[in-house]
Amino acid sequence: MNLKDDFPILKNREISYLDSGATAQKPKEVIEALENFYENFNANPHRGAYSLSMEATEMYEDTRTKIARFINSKHREEIIFSKNASESLNLLAYSYGLENLKEGDEICISIMEHHSNLVPWQKVAAKTGAKLVYLYMNDNFEIPEEEWKTKITENTKIVGITHVSNVLGTINSVEEIIKYAHKKGAITIVDSSQSIPHMRIDVQALDTDFLVFSGHKMMAPLGIGVLYGKRELLNEMTPFLMGGDMIEYVYEQNTTFAPLPNKFEAGTQNVEGVIGLGAAIDYIEKIGYDKIQELEKEVVDYAIQELSKLDYLDLYLTKSLEHHSSVISFNIKGVHPHDVASILDSEGVCVRSGNHCAQPLLRSIGIDSTCRASFYLYNTKEDVDKLVAGLNKSYEMFKKYLKK
Ligand code: ALA
Repeated sequence: MNLKDDFPILKNREISYLDSGATAQKPKEVIEALENFYENFNANPHRGAYSLSMEATEMYEDTRTKIARFINSKHREEIIFSKNASESLNLLAYSYGLENLKEGDEICISIMEHHSNLVPWQKVAAKTGAKLVYLYMNDNFEIPEEEWKTKITENTKIVGITHVSNVLGTINSVEEIIKYAHKKGAITIVDSSQSIPHMRIDVQALDTDFLVFSGHKMMAPLGIGVLYGKRELLNEMTPFLMGGDMIEYVYEQNTTFAPLPNKFEAGTQNVEGVIGLGAAIDYIEKIGYDKIQELEKEVVDYAIQELSKLDYLDLYLTKSLEHHSSVISFNIKGVHPHDVASILDSEGVCVRSGNHCAQPLLRSIGIDSTCRASFYLYNTKEDVDKLVAGLNKSYEMFKKYLKK
């Protein structure tokens, strides 16, 4: 099965797109859903008593229900729309962290976190006097059990953990970490930005208090994200952004707020993004996660096999491949990843290079940047062959400059 035909950009451009960890390409169903919205339904939801606005409201709210079903949340109002995972995490830092933490409390995150699940907690720690504690990795690029069993204690109030590392592809043991965090009385936040494109998420089975993701990595438009939170926690929290549609009554000197979910959705929302996210979910469900995983596994296993043969390459990858998802980071020894990425680009291969918004992680393994190939359901073994050919070309160009 080759799904490239479903993605107009992969037909229009001669590229091997290996940067889905940064953003996924969009199937025609998603692009058509946006066109359909603007051609037939565009109006501001929740604001008009006329049919067009009511139809737009229905589409917007039906998508909330669809997402609730998709991640198995108990109540539809537990789904809050945001701009992206970063905004969802900032909401949690401001509306939960700043309001609930005090000196002596601890926030426990992993060294694998994207800056968006790290920098906001530095701010919360600095403002409240709480301490930021890290879970570190072993040499196999995994967080061992003894690490979270010693670092999460009765002082821990928040545990924030990425489900899948955006640099290493390591799948963390989030179920066990959540159970342990709850035993110690902490609330949990899972960043599923790099997992939900590839695997089914069930928030009730995970029993996490909060979970965030960006739509654009799962084939939805850019600029739409989700915060899931348990209703009782969201109800207790103060709003993050103030303004239109998140209020109940506004007086000259004070305001009462709307119930969930509107309390957290101030101002006109990214309605097209929401509609596009609904279409992306339909597409994922049409293909099915089982098929997505089967397609990706074949290509990623092949990539690991072929890249492992290149002795000029350093690979940053767990050896336990059952704990690995669709991201492979690597460096040509002695060559800057930006140089490698530029040569790959000249061969039509798109990879990300740099620190991947995870500087503490890279520092912890003694490097400051990598090239990263990230795969999705439309990639094929031919994309891997082009990557390998491009790497061989890069190595040939640089080897004379490399120290022996
Ligand atoms: N967070 C995205 C990435 O890892 C942008 O590339």
